[in-house]
Amino acid sequence: MTKYSKFALCALVFGALTFTSCSSDDNDPAPPASIYARLGGTTMVSDPDNPGQMIEQGRLSYRKVINSTVGLIVADVQSSASGNLGAHFAPLLTEVGAGNTTNLAILVDNLTDFFSFNTGGTNAVNTYSGRDMVSAHNPAVNPRMGVVSTNADFTKFEGYVGQAAVANGVAADTQLYTDIVAVLESLRDPIVQ
Ligand code: HEM
Repeated sequence: MTKYSKFALCALVFGALTFTSCSSDDNDPAPPASIYARLGGTTMVSDPDNPGQMIEQGRLSYRKVINSTVGLIVADVQSSASGNLGAHFAPLLTEVGAGNTTNLAILVDNLTDFFSFNTGGTNAVNTYSGRDMVSAHNPAVNPRMGVVSTNADFTKFEGYVGQAAVANGVAADTQLYTDIVAVLESLRDPIVQ
């Protein structure tokens, strides 16, 4: 055997061993499904709010939680307790008080896009076209943000999302709930400025 062919044989054996050891990864557990997939993913279901239309189950799950969260924020604002979120949502509340819900519907849609797209719902229907989280929550950039959010405001907001998740059955899966809270927490820094 020539020096060259010995080298080639060694390379082949080494390569085969390397390949064999890599292939043991096949036994590793599969990575967990995305949050969007665990919320129902791309399965098409009828849209309860728009008769005759279909919607992805993952998107519908988020929309339900967001609508419930909005309900809790409205109740918070109406409670007139000190430290309520009225000042932050002042522009929106003035409009809604006057019977104009156009921007509220846009906000719910944007929030649904934002959560869906960023947790694995990457179909075009979920494309987020709003501001980034720093700009959206900076009153100097976004006049619809009445005043900056404090840490306490954020914690309260997060609590409402949690309550809304419980009300819509999402929290029954504790791992899913933990993963959603982790996504919310990852946004605290950009939002609280
Ligand atoms: C995880 C937490 C949060 C997320 C993911 C989030 C996400 C968003 C998104 C996607 C928008 C729409 C931006 C756009 O259309 O360009 C928005 C707007 C807004 N957010 Fe947040 N937000 C969070 C927490 C908060 C908190 C804690 C407050 C206040 C205490 C707040 C107050 C607002 C206000 C006032 C607006 C503008 C609403 C309007 O268009 O009238 N957000 N947020």
